[in-house]
Amino acid sequence: MYRTNTCGELNISNVGQKVTLAGWVQRSRDLGGMTFVDLRDRYGITQLAFNMEVNASLCEKARKLGREYVVQATGTVTERASKNNKIPTGEIEIIVDELNVLNAAKVPPFTIEDQSDGGDDLRMKYRYLDIRRNPVRRNLELRHRMAMLVRNYLSSLEFLEIETPFLIKSTPEGARDFVVPSRMNPGEFYALPQSPQQYKQLLMVAGMDRYFQIVRCFRDEDLRADRQPEFTQIDCEMSFVEQEDVLQTFEGLAKHLFKEEKHLEFGDFPRITWHDAMRLYGSDKPDIRFGMQFVELNDVVKGCGFSLFDNAELVVGICAEGCAEYTRKQLDALTDFVKRPQVGAGGMVYVKYNSDGSFKSSVDKFYTQEQLKQVAEKFGAKPGDLMLILCGPAMKTRKQLNELRLEMGNQLGLRNPNVYAPLWVIDFPLLEWDEETQRFYAMHHPFTAPKPEDEALLDDPSRWGDIRANAYDIVMNGVEVGGGSIRIHDRELQNKMFHTLGFTDEKAAEQFGFLMDAFTYGAPPHAGLAFGFDRLCSLFGGADSIRDFIAFPKNNSGRDVMSGSPSPIAQDQLDELMIDVRPIANK
Ligand code: AMO
Repeated sequence: MYRTNTCGELNISNVGQKVTLAGWVQRSRDLGGMTFVDLRDRYGITQLAFNMEVNASLCEKARKLGREYVVQATGTVTERASKNNKIPTGEIEIIVDELNVLNAAKVPPFTIEDQSDGGDDLRMKYRYLDIRRNPVRRNLELRHRMAMLVRNYLSSLEFLEIETPFLIKSTPEGARDFVVPSRMNPGEFYALPQSPQQYKQLLMVAGMDRYFQIVRCFRDEDLRADRQPEFTQIDCEMSFVEQEDVLQTFEGLAKHLFKEEKHLEFGDFPRITWHDAMRLYGSDKPDIRFGMQFVELNDVVKGCGFSLFDNAELVVGICAEGCAEYTRKQLDALTDFVKRPQVGAGGMVYVKYNSDGSFKSSVDKFYTQEQLKQVAEKFGAKPGDLMLILCGPAMKTRKQLNELRLEMGNQLGLRNPNVYAPLWVIDFPLLEWDEETQRFYAMHHPFTAPKPEDEALLDDPSRWGDIRANAYDIVMNGVEVGGGSIRIHDRELQNKMFHTLGFTDEKAAEQFGFLMDAFTYGAPPHAGLAFGFDRLCSLFGGADSIRDFIAFPKNNSGRDVMSGSPSPIAQDQLDELMIDVRPIANK
């Protein structure tokens, strides 16, 4: 038997017991007569004590232990003279009488401490050492607990976890597919699923009624802190439901997770339509931990001779409470912020509502005190507040102001990661115009149903941009943690949708024929949703990046720097797959 106990479980009640522990050497301290070794495993740290006077050779052996050596120690649990109340085992130590070095270790390239001296790249290269650190280990433990809670909750509601294939047919909609060559079918490719969307709908046709899967999805898209090329969804689908049933079910799941994991209780999650979210926050995933809603100013600022405002489609601003004392330097920094290429605004106008009731603005030349007062009234501002205003084309300006609002939220400490503000965004547009290809795309996916009252607009191409979908996202703290929709289960409507998206009958049959066929055999009304599991975990862990909640993530270039993937493959492997990787010019 390698061990009788773990390094996290012994305490004062075990004093006198003979135990054997095994783990890694966190550090050792040599105090002349005594040597102390902190032994670590997944469960905690226990102090091993060696006394030179009692057993000199054993003490010598302990002194030679390097960091991260793997050892086994047998001894007696003893009450410590100087206690450490910061760790659960801090009242005891093991007086060791047998020490076994199970494996030596090279000096690790960074310290295995909560605050490591290793940079991101180094920690990713030696991810197995990084995972030994408490913060990463705790994140993976959280992820495990969350997965267990999800499985138990959904199966208590009759959802069945059913696996769907990873080698599937490539479809053109959505992000780019990762493709896999088929050796047995030369020149042909599978795709890795971007989500199990079509299979879960087929499971509804198959009568499974309620499906879920904690499932890996693959998307070849540009990466960010909250995007990985392979990520995990809690993917769900239900039959014979309306939107309200779906929202209630998954709001229930989210509340269950908050209650069990964070001991937080919530009332009904607020809901906002996509249009209102864009109008009030300039974002389809508003962070509602703080207010600072947009105020549109066209009717109070236009026609005063300030041409930028006069010529703009939209003049819109936010009010930062208590910020009228911002210095020139702070205001310049905010102007620089909105002018950054990532935000792209031409400039920013400010109006300070001074505590004496007067106004100071960057457009004093054009506006009288009385007119600025009207602006302030529109904002509902009070003396001491600062109004920040942008102008330009409506949607573009709203998105820029969203960035400024979030920046102000950060600066004012209004985005506390321990505060949670869930929100449903509903009634997304069905279709989205793409300037580059000059066609409409499905905003969610081509199987999403229009709102019944907007269905007739499908017959009028000039109104396609106005059609609302029965599609919804669940947003928390400005992060889109999940999304879904009511599906089209009627073949005629689905055909119409494909035509709207520019598919010919042949093309639609080629791409989605199997689903269309299935729909002729009695498809029930159905709907679903998928949570981004990594995002949900990082949110619960109070972090922005999903990487630290994935055991072996990819870096921002999609590389696994530890194993060195992706990598070239041997010519004979390429030949077997009939893949020619020469540059096009040489072919
Ligand atoms: P959607 O594309 O909105 O919907 O994805 C659902 C959720 O998955 C998460 N997500 C990601 N997380 C990490 N890295 C990524 N690259 C990434 N892409 C998406 C997000 C998102 O909300 N089949 C539909 C769901 C449905 O209609 O039922 C779908 O995949 O949190």
